[in-house]
Amino acid sequence: MSQRPSDGLAVVILAAGQGTRMKSSLPKVLHPIAGRSLIQHVLDVAGSLGAEHVLAVVRHERERVAQAIAEHAPDTIIVDQDEVPGTGRAVEQALQALPDDFDGSVVVLSGDAPLIDHDTLQMLIDGHLAEGRKMTLLSALFDDPTGLGRILRSDDQRMLGIVEEKDATDEERRITEVNGGIYVFHRRTLQDTLATIDTNNAQGEKYLTDAAARILASGGAVDAVATTDTWLIAGVNDRAQLADVGRELNRRIVRKHQQAGVTIQDPSTTWIEAGVSIGADTLILPGTYLHGATSIASNAIVGPDTTLVDTEVREGAHVRRSEVHLAVIGEGASVGPFSYIRPGTELGESSKIGAFVEAKNAKIGDASKVPHLSYVGDVTVGTDSNIGAGTIVANYDGVKKHETVVGDGVRIGSKNVLVAPVTVHDGSYTAAGTVVRKDVPAGSLSMGVLPQRHIEGWVADKRPGSSSAKAAERAGETQES
Ligand code: UD1
Ligand code: CA
Repeated sequence: MSQRPSDGLAVVILAAGQGTRMKSSLPKVLHPIAGRSLIQHVLDVAGSLGAEHVLAVVRHERERVAQAIAEHAPDTIIVDQDEVPGTGRAVEQALQALPDDFDGSVVVLSGDAPLIDHDTLQMLIDGHLAEGRKMTLLSALFDDPTGLGRILRSDDQRMLGIVEEKDATDEERRITEVNGGIYVFHRRTLQDTLATIDTNNAQGEKYLTDAAARILASGGAVDAVATTDTWLIAGVNDRAQLADVGRELNRRIVRKHQQAGVTIQDPSTTWIEAGVSIGADTLILPGTYLHGATSIASNAIVGPDTTLVDTEVREGAHVRRSEVHLAVIGEGASVGPFSYIRPGTELGESSKIGAFVEAKNAKIGDASKVPHLSYVGDVTVGTDSNIGAGTIVANYDGVKKHETVVGDGVRIGSKNVLVAPVTVHDGSYTAAGTVVRKDVPAGSLSMGVLPQRHIEGWVADKRPGSSSAKAAERAGETQES
């Protein structure tokens, strides 16, 4: 049997609340965990359901919240909640924004509950449709249900309704099955029901939760499906919960990578954002932070104590105790310890950035090395070249940045200064301490330093009586005897 065209799925995300307990100038749903705002996580899971319509209800800090939603999920319909408070009013106004002929299911999510996942929602929707219910919600058993709505059931466990904590009797408050705030409804039934709900309660709000008893009273089937994974319904109301939910999300992300074949030695000190990809048999050592669009291929080693932001690490590369932003680490290349790799840097295959090196917009060719104590900025190095210890690329003349080119098979001596713009051509050498101001021809040796000469007796003459003069005097005596 083909589905009627009016069937289908809409998702409503509630995000109009104020989030007072965050004590923040940033709207609550825009606070990030795992590199994405709370509302982005909820938009992502909404998007994963393949709904025809996704709606977000906003009010507090309307412009900022609406803009963040539009940037992340431009197809989302923004619905403005009026001055009537409550989750019921928020959903009612969202339903008014749906096409009149849409008669499918409506999933309701909270913009501040980011751990709900695709599989749980799909299970909830499937059960809702299979049982022919008008309302299905996700509940959980909490040892301490304080603050949450309670699920009312008859002696034979039939659902009777939901009571908010502030409206509950002492006996009802002892109920430990709580409303998770995640629902599936039949659109038309919900819209008709919300029209009958008032704000006659302890908070003076139009409660979405009042729909349960009303739908039951008019003969519709309603049930709460309890989950044992209580994190799925965890909401963020203050900074402590933001940290708790963020840590749990990180634990779930780490677990997902472990299940895909990544060795993560210490999940508690490894922070991996939602958009990061990691290949199998890669080893992530403690104290590692992987941000943004970072992707790590297989058989790599990252860490300990390493931060990668929007960075590509290719097969078999090794990055230890370093910070890397917007760079490419080539196949089998190595970085660190203690280096800082800045945007635009691309390391070729089997190349090396060693200890205490800062690189910015540096293209380092295959098998080339910058092993020790260097700054390399705005530079292109060919293949199989070596940059001596302590070498600095002087890319900035105080006004403009300039480019430096080092060819293939070049040996830059220790403690050179390459004054940009300058080119060191293929196969050339530079002597230790050279300040390279002019292009170096291919295959030549460049020496920019004065020949070494000695002024005999200078110390005795200019620094008489000093400890150096005394040492020199003793040396003279030993030589004479
Ligand atoms: C709600 C439920 C409660 C449930 C709990 C789960 C109601 C009446 N109560 O309580 O049974 O246990 O969630 O977390 O629904 N919002 C709006 N407009 C409003 C009010 C709220 O968009 O006028 C949004 C909030 O921004 C938030 C969500 O709805 O994203 C839930 O609102 P909140 O005030 O946190 O509901 P609770 O009182 O916690
Ligand atoms: Ca809440």
